[in-house]
Amino acid sequence: MRNIGILCSGGDVSGMNAALKRFVEYSLAKDFVPYFIYNGFEGLIDNDIHRVGYHDVAGIISRGGTKIRSSRSERFMEEEYRRQAIENLNAHTIGYLIVLGGDGSFKGMQKLSQESEGISFCGIPATIDNDIAGTEYCLGVDTALNVIKDAIDAIRDTASSFNRAFVIETMGRHCGYLALVSALTSGAEMCLIPEIPYKLEEYKNIFHRQIQEGRGYFIAVVSEALGNAQQISKWFEKEIGVGSRVTVLGHIQRGGNPTVYDRLMAFDFVTHAIDGFLRGDDCSVICYNKGGFNAKKIEEVAFKTYEINPFLLRLGREYGHQK
Ligand code: F6P
Repeated sequence: MRNIGILCSGGDVSGMNAALKRFVEYSLAKDFVPYFIYNGFEGLIDNDIHRVGYHDVAGIISRGGTKIRSSRSERFMEEEYRRQAIENLNAHTIGYLIVLGGDGSFKGMQKLSQESEGISFCGIPATIDNDIAGTEYCLGVDTALNVIKDAIDAIRDTASSFNRAFVIETMGRHCGYLALVSALTSGAEMCLIPEIPYKLEEYKNIFHRQIQEGRGYFIAVVSEALGNAQQISKWFEKEIGVGSRVTVLGHIQRGGNPTVYDRLMAFDFVTHAIDGFLRGDDCSVICYNKGGFNAKKIEEVAFKTYEINPFLLRLGREYGHQK
C-alpha cells in the first residue's frame, strides 16, 4: 500500500501547516498518495479522511494552527473506537500514518500499531511544552517562545513606567521549559518552574536590596505547571510592598505565524518521517538532538520523562541566589 496519511493530535502548534505542505509535496515526489485525516484521532474514528493534492496546501505555510484541525480524543482510549479507526485506515488502504503531537498522542499511535497489521506509524514531536523525552526540540516551540518574548517585551514597556510587579504565567502543563527560556531571554527578575526548587525568602532579600538600590519594577515568569501565579502576585504585594498584576498568556502562545525556524523544522521532521518509511521503519518518533535528526523507537520517547537541558537548568538556578 503506498497510501500515506497524516493527522494532528492534542494542542496545535505553529508549524503544523508547514509540515502538511511538506507532507503532500514530498509524498507525491516519492510516489505516495497523500491523505489528510481531519480532527485528529476523532476524525480517524469518524472516517474524516480525504485524498489531497498540491492545491490543498497552497498558501498555508505562513499560517499558525493546523488546516486539518486537531482534537483530544476521549473515544480513542476505548478499543472499540480504535478498531473503527483501523477499519477506516484499511478502507482507504492507508499503509503509512504520521502523527503530529505529544507523548499522549504517541501512546495512542502505539496502541494503533499493536492492534493493526500492515500499517507503519511515525510520530513527529509537536507541542509548545517541549516536554517529549528523547528530543531536544518539538515543533512549534520557537514560535511560542517568540510570542512570549514579544508579550514580555510589551509588558516591560508598561512595567518600567510603574513601581509594580508583573507576574506572567506561561504555558507548560507539567514542564517549565517555556518559562525558563522566556525568563532568561527576557531578562526577568524571577523565574519559577517545577524543575527548580526555590525559596521565596531568598527572593525577598534580593528584591528588598534591589529596591533600596533604585529598582522600581519586577518581571516574574511563572510556569503554568506550578499553578501559583495569583499567589506569587499576592506575595509581591505583601512581602515586597509593590502593587502587582498577573498576566496569563494562555492560548496566544499556541498561535501566530510560524517562525522561519519552525517552518524549516517542519520540513525536516516530515522529510525524515517519510524517509524512515522508505527504509522500513515502523512505530518510531523522529527526534532532534545535537543538530541532527534520528528515528527512535517509541518506547524511548513516549514512556520516559523529559528532562530540561542541564545547562539551561544551571542558568535557571541562579535566580533567587544573587550576591
Ligand atoms: O498543547 C500544550 C498545552 O498548550 C499546554 O501548555 C496546556 O497546559 C494545554 O495544552 C492546554 O490545553 P487545552 O488547549 O486543551 O486547554
